[in-house]
Amino acid sequence: MNQGKIFAVGIGPGGADLLTPRAHEVLMRAEVVVGYRPYLDLLGNLIDGKDIISTGMRGEVERCQSAITKALQGRVVAVVSSGDAGIYGMAGLLLELEEKEDDPLEVEVVPGVTAANAAAAALGAPLMNDFAVLSLSDWLTPLEEIKHRVKVVAAADLVCVLYNPQSHSRRELLPEVINEFARVRGESTVAGTVRNAGREGEKCWLGTLTELPVADVDMVTVVLIGNSRSFIINNRMVTRRGYQVTDI
Ligand SMILES: C[S@@+](CC[C@H](N)C(=O)[O-])C[C@H]1O[C@@H](n2cnc3c(N)ncnc32)[C@H](O)[C@@H]1O
Repeated sequence: MNQGKIFAVGIGPGGADLLTPRAHEVLMRAEVVVGYRPYLDLLGNLIDGKDIISTGMRGEVERCQSAITKALQGRVVAVVSSGDAGIYGMAGLLLELEEKEDDPLEVEVVPGVTAANAAAAALGAPLMNDFAVLSLSDWLTPLEEIKHRVKVVAAADLVCVLYNPQSHSRRELLPEVINEFARVRGESTVAGTVRNAGREGEKCWLGTLTELPVADVDMVTVVLIGNSRSFIINNRMVTRRGYQVTDI
């Protein structure tokens, strides 16, 4: 039987114009497309006519196993993640599970525009210098570990992008994180939020840490916290890289 192949594809934040040509090409080639239903919906009619395997939230292991089974049957399979497949996406799990198979299987990771890139562009240029990305979800990472990382990042003066910032049921951590950054960096530290970055319904907020509309932050939002070099310039969030623009 022909050997199949699995592509772990980052489809970008959702807008068709932010799907890379490589991701588009791979989706066209795939016979089977596997993903979380809302991410498949973002692809619209691009995947019409393909075999679709979709599972609900937290069905990641099941999705990857189905993809591996199909590829072992000789099919070309695309496992889609929103943004980048290797940033809180499916690529790592696929590689871990594939390694357990007796028959070797080719897995290719296709990069995508992650939410941090799309949100940064929507706000201005906040990631011009060193930055960190943290997920506030305690589903797969113990809460104490998350809190420790928050303290370390806040102290290191890194611009910080928060993924999975707050859900309906998980509402205590984000205010705590904001307080920690405000305590270390000052209450007037620049911050921004972007909901639905890079797709229909994009909504940005820009201000200072203490003004941040915490109640409005949800699971389709990323929060960006500036550092000592971050400013609001013409209603855009900019982190200075260090160029001497006053001398020009
Ligand atoms: C499990 S992570 C997936 C990240 C994805 N692999 C990526 O590279 O963007 C889900 C979180 O990413 C963030 N996110 C993903 N897409 C987004 C978008 N278009 N706008 C704002 N935040 C987004 C949200 O914080 C969401 O809770």
